[in-house]
Amino acid sequence: MKKNMIMLAALLIGLCGCGANKAEETPAPVEEKTAETAEQTEETADAEKKALLVYFSRAGENWEVGVVEKGNTRIAAEYIAETCGADTFEIVPVNPYPSDYMETVNIADEEKKSGARPEISDTVTDWESYDTIILGYPIWHGDLPMIVYNFLESYDFSGKMVYPFVTHGGSGLAGTPERIRSTAAGADVKDGLALTGKTIQNDFDSVKADIDTWLADNGLVK
Ligand SMILES: Cc1cc2nc3c(=O)[nH]c(=O)nc-3n(C[C@H](O)[C@H](O)[C@H](O)COP(=O)(O)O)c2cc1C
Repeated sequence: MKKNMIMLAALLIGLCGCGANKAEETPAPVEEKTAETAEQTEETADAEKKALLVYFSRAGENWEVGVVEKGNTRIAAEYIAETCGADTFEIVPVNPYPSDYMETVNIADEEKKSGARPEISDTVTDWESYDTIILGYPIWHGDLPMIVYNFLESYDFSGKMVYPFVTHGGSGLAGTPERIRSTAAGADVKDGLALTGKTIQNDFDSVKADIDTWLADNGLVK
């Protein structure tokens, strides 16, 4: 009899336990909902991410291309901005560079030697709203043009992802992503893309293919 009573008590406890488990299981859908909500929040945040394409480029006489109406970097920049759906900002110097190639080479050489920071004629509106900066520039004397350093030093890059692309006459990236890393504190600077100016002017279809691959690899296609 005593044994039966113990078994009955155990059964009752077991039944109560089941009830308790059921009660504990009730929040399960809430957990699911929370996960769903987190996913939705992430999606909303993704939708709010904005890309700004910043570039510096110079028209006129240039290396291996003769006199051009549109600078090499600008041609690439326009295509990239369109493909990514990015806003654009052109770094326009207050004092424009001459159309003559050798004159520009000499000015740029002086600027590099003196560590000049040529003035930029405009500022970016709503800088905080961008988390992705696609930065295009020509290689000048194996480096970024000094005006691009001015740009990098003028804005707070913390938390920004920076995707550099360069146009050049043979130097490639010339280690410039590394220089951007040390100048734009707090930026996550990705590996860059290098395009030759001559190919941009003469065979843009092959350049498009390189750009498309780079954008896709970096998840930058809209
Ligand atoms: C002042 C100056 C310096 C240059 N220095 C280099 C260089 O060191 N290495 C290189 O590969 N190309 C050099 N170039 C060629 C440019 O990088 C190339 O033509 C570039 O595509 C120009 O871009 P843009 O037309 O957008 O200004 C130089 C051009 C200029 C005007």
